[in-house]
Amino acid sequence: MLNETSTLIEYGAPIDAQTMVTPPDVTELELEPGHPGLGDEVYIRRRKELFALCRKHRLQRLGPPIIEYNAEETRIWREVSPKLDELHQKYASQIYLKAKRDLAITQEEIPQLRLLSERLRRETQMHLVPAEGALPYRTFYEYIADRGFPVTQFLRHGSHPEFTPEPDMIHDCLGHVPPLMNRDYAELLTLIGKAVAATNRGEQVLSLKRFSWFSIEFGLIQEAGEVKVFGAGILSSTGEIPYSLFSPEVTRRPFVTDVVINTDYDPSHMQNKLFIAPSLPFLRRELEGLVRRFGIPVV
Ligand SMILES: [Fe+2]
Repeated sequence: MLNETSTLIEYGAPIDAQTMVTPPDVTELELEPGHPGLGDEVYIRRRKELFALCRKHRLQRLGPPIIEYNAEETRIWREVSPKLDELHQKYASQIYLKAKRDLAITQEEIPQLRLLSERLRRETQMHLVPAEGALPYRTFYEYIADRGFPVTQFLRHGSHPEFTPEPDMIHDCLGHVPPLMNRDYAELLTLIGKAVAATNRGEQVLSLKRFSWFSIEFGLIQEAGEVKVFGAGILSSTGEIPYSLFSPEVTRRPFVTDVVINTDYDPSHMQNKLFIAPSLPFLRRELEGLVRRFGIPVV
């Protein structure tokens, strides 16, 4: 367990524990240095428009807006989603594949998150919250505690359809949304959300963040004697799927909670430290144990 008096390290650098608990609010679109859309005025104008619209819908609790996607956005979707689907059929976990089939996400048209949200509500009482961009971790999980999953609605830049430095519609819709159809997955996720929302201790938030990073975001899982891809960050990247399973640069260790919560990571490049969970119920039991050890009161 992380020691509460020790300095917290995140992404290789010391951080103030308080930023884990009271995150900053980003009120304007910021593209990080090296973003492929920098310098493309048309792209930035579209991003600003979607930023304002989705932020308004999030803050006013209006649900995902219906978006009229333009030709370039549709082109990117049509280029990336079939390539991902081919990899999913071979390497994704059954939890994911079944849900993706049930949602009938098409490779032709970009789905409207508003409609997917209504479907999720009927299946697992989860819903989608429109997000203008990556939300600070604690804000993100406060929505999840309330069974809302924040999702972006913009697309990555067309010059690099296989790559995005930030979560976008392809990451969220093809990585995160399908498993929300699974009840056990939804319960695992909302328990992380409730625990994050209920603690005021930075080191506990960081531990839960790492737990979800190495499972929900970048987890591998065992299924019928095989290792399958489970995490949304891997499932939404044509490069990351084969890399996660086959690259000799990647260490793949059994998911041991105390190791996981003490493992730092760097989100800016392909993930070379991965953990394999034996099952979804295992992750649930481990998480419940962790929350209990932390003394976080969750219902
Ligand atoms: Fe994600």
